[in-house]
Amino acid sequence: MDLKTQKMRTFNNILVTGGAGFIGSNFIRYVLTKTDFAGRIVNYDALTYAGNAESLADVAQAFPGRYEFVHADIRDGAAVAAALEKYSVDAIVHFAAESHVDRSITSPDDFVQTNIVGTFRLLEAARAMGRKLALFHHVSTDEVFGSLGETGFFSETTPYAPHSPYSASKAGSDHLVRAFRDTYGLPVTLTNCSNNYGPYQFPEKLIPLMILNALEGKELPVYGEGTNVRDWLHVEDHCEAIWTVMTKAAIGETYCVGGRNEMRNIDVVGKICALVDTLAPPLASGAPRSSLIRHVKDRLGHDRRYAIDCSKLERDLGWKPAHDAKTGFEETVKWYLASSRWVDSVRTGAYRNWIERNYASR
Ligand code: NAD
Ligand code: TYD
Repeated sequence: MDLKTQKMRTFNNILVTGGAGFIGSNFIRYVLTKTDFAGRIVNYDALTYAGNAESLADVAQAFPGRYEFVHADIRDGAAVAAALEKYSVDAIVHFAAESHVDRSITSPDDFVQTNIVGTFRLLEAARAMGRKLALFHHVSTDEVFGSLGETGFFSETTPYAPHSPYSASKAGSDHLVRAFRDTYGLPVTLTNCSNNYGPYQFPEKLIPLMILNALEGKELPVYGEGTNVRDWLHVEDHCEAIWTVMTKAAIGETYCVGGRNEMRNIDVVGKICALVDTLAPPLASGAPRSSLIRHVKDRLGHDRRYAIDCSKLERDLGWKPAHDAKTGFEETVKWYLASSRWVDSVRTGAYRNWIERNYASR
């Protein structure tokens, strides 16, 4: 279907769940600063360890009346319904999730509760809005498709085969979203994206963890041989893809999003070491950062390779990534080197005091 010439869908009040997290905060900044959206965004977030409302302090200041924050949990159906009503929401973008595979291996319960039960509560609140809701966009991952061998790509028609508790919980949420589409006619769109990198990513994920450890001269733990492959996409390209799907795709559609940028983990870590060597003062020992690499015990059930065929999104909606990995990785390393205040606050939880100061009176 050629949708390039189709009229764009518009919204007045968008509720973004998980907007204090990595991709959600980048999405809110992207929509308010780089699109022609003229309405209001409501950031609905429980502020788990991974959420930091301070990531959007500049946006809150720059867009008075167009950015609101609600400190609440998606599992609380009454709180969701109240926010939808209070802000006359006509679109929901659902990012909120437990998102780290390693944590899902040690604490799978949280993943089932937030990713499956939480998504269900949100869908129920959305369904209760009837025709007032124009769109429910669900943000998901390529990990629902399982693992690839040396060749091949995931696409919109790949059968689901999740392995980790994280990917299984996201697969469950995807199925619920489609069930609400097919059963109740909920107006949904979905995206399944590959690994993101960029500013504001919590330093438990590969890229920010390696940047900060390399900077501080700490060991760089590479799981197994480091030959597992991921497809890396700059977070802003992902945000643009989501916005493109929200505004241009036919209701009910799913799009796969990827960077056509497959890399082995060991090569990603090597690139980061080289960039930190170039951009930061040398280690006291004078050794290159690559000397900090340690091959450690492999992740349980570690998926071998992810790769995405995103030609449907390119062909139907004209999206393509604007960032290449070379400049994208360099910009990201520079951002972490320049953002020690943000890094300290997410590591210590100091931002929780910030949220009390800034939002407690509302
Ligand atoms: P993140 O962990 O950085 O942020 C998650 C946000 O959700 C946090 O702000 C957290 O406070 C909030 N949250 C968690 N549980 C909540 C709850 N019960 N109620 C309300 N808010 C809650 O995650 P991210 O990396 O930004 O990922 C966002 C979404 O994108 C997730 O759905 C994830 O599955 C998906 N995704 C991520 C990637 C990636 O590379 N990071 C790739 C593809 C898809
Ligand atoms: P991660 O950033 O956790 O994303 P995902 O598991 O969702 O793909 O990990 C990316 C890859 O890096 C994955 O193959 C696991 C690997 N990895 C390490 O080798 N060492 C680490 O310390 C981490 C966090 C990840």
